Amino acid sequence: MPVFLGIDIGTSGTKTLAMREDGQILASATVEYPLSSPKPGWSEQEPVDWWTAAVNSVRRVLKSARLKPGEIGGIGLSGQMHGSVFLDRSGSVIRPALLWNDQRTTAECSEIESCVGGRSKLIQMVANPALTGFTAPKILWLRNREKKNFDKTRQVLLPKDYVRYRLTGDFATEVSDASGTLLLDVVKRRWSSALLQKLDLDAKLLPKVYESEDITGVLSEVAAKAMGLRPGIPVVGGGGDQAAGAIGNGIVGRGAVSATMGTSGVVFAHSDDVQVDPQGRLHTFCHAVRGKWHVMGCVLSAGGSLQWFRNQLCQGEIAAARKQKKDPYELITAEAATAPTGSEGLFFLPYLTGERTPHADPHARAAWIGLSLRHGKSHLARSVIEGATYAMRDTLEIIKAMQIPVKEIRLSGGGARSEFWRQLQADIYGQAVVTINASEGPAYGVALLAAAGTGAYKNVVEACHATISVVTKTPNRAAATKTYNAAYPVYQQLYRSLKPDFVAIQKLIE
Ligand code: XUL
Repeated sequence: MPVFLGIDIGTSGTKTLAMREDGQILASATVEYPLSSPKPGWSEQEPVDWWTAAVNSVRRVLKSARLKPGEIGGIGLSGQMHGSVFLDRSGSVIRPALLWNDQRTTAECSEIESCVGGRSKLIQMVANPALTGFTAPKILWLRNREKKNFDKTRQVLLPKDYVRYRLTGDFATEVSDASGTLLLDVVKRRWSSALLQKLDLDAKLLPKVYESEDITGVLSEVAAKAMGLRPGIPVVGGGGDQAAGAIGNGIVGRGAVSATMGTSGVVFAHSDDVQVDPQGRLHTFCHAVRGKWHVMGCVLSAGGSLQWFRNQLCQGEIAAARKQKKDPYELITAEAATAPTGSEGLFFLPYLTGERTPHADPHARAAWIGLSLRHGKSHLARSVIEGATYAMRDTLEIIKAMQIPVKEIRLSGGGARSEFWRQLQADIYGQAVVTINASEGPAYGVALLAAAGTGAYKNVVEACHATISVVTKTPNRAAATKTYNAAYPVYQQLYRSLKPDFVAIQKLIE
């Protein structure tokens, strides 16, 4: 039975997994690398670190699953979206890549909107507004601020597509990740020549676009040697981490929605046709399923808020967890569970790194509101988890208002592993949530795309149906949902009330 490799170029590390054709995972390995922030709001990585991590994680997986090079039938690639790798004419990296969470491009976002005649014109062209994390504003930033580097640039690649270039020598991407550049005509699934023209960008800077299941090239001699594989293995398009993660969660049909809490939190809905939020609050991107789309919203610090809380305020829990050989999050959520539903009027706004959905506001800040003498550590912990979950509900509400059906919510990431957080999500979303048998996310999704693209399945939808099934179902509790339904409008109003103050705070620190 052939084995497929899924390689996910994440923000904290690259994860490779080996999956048998029937969906069984044989091994996985993650190799980490640093992220640098040379100035406030900047976020960069060295593309060569991704390549080294891909090579080492593949080698580890081959070793631990005792796989022979001849057994690998295909490779799929996934990765952090929106990043920009700038290559010169020899294919060398010109400067560190700007990442998805980099916030330096506010001026370039306005430049793009004014070039095309406003935000709604831009949404008509590429289905999305200009957001600081997206790729197109990064290219303009290079042209505006590092002209010499821009003049040397011959190719702009997304993170996983740089690794593809090192694997196969081809400049290629696929529709789901390309959607997040802001340069794709999302309806026609090809680069928007109209927008490129308006921005005075040469289409030659961009790689060829494929559907996510398509084979974009084969493993070169050099790459095969580095990884301990055989040359000629097909590499499929794969997907941006969100679309790939959705495939890994089986979000491939109408009514299927996922809620994934990693550092960021994403609510993702499959759509058979192009659905655009006229206000541009959600992203409308091509899905990694041929001829389908999705909408999604991204909360920048969802699990990241709890991680911040753990690191800054839970040294005691961390030490106790070490002694008890437990995960500190287990102790923190146990403490949170002792506070009542709604944290007795305490709210946490999770905008530690500004916010993308629904506010698109890099200057938004996190806050606890409603503190009183009654509140203790358990309330603080619970309110952080509730705040991150309300932020996810913001996206869900917009999806529902767009008449996109939400028949089933599949949870993944850290928020799916804890029983407490699963129940809290069901209660705040006001409907049942489920978990599935696969928890490997994007790397699993692109291994399935590789299996489908090389003919092991008719297509990726069939691959998902053959391998993914629901394992737990958590219904919401009516009384808790009633409490949260009363609190949610207050949560929403708090951002609106504080918005002018966030602007004032920004001025103080600029
Ligand atoms: C999606 C997004 C993040 C990154 C990093 O729009 O910005 O999910 O892909 O994971």
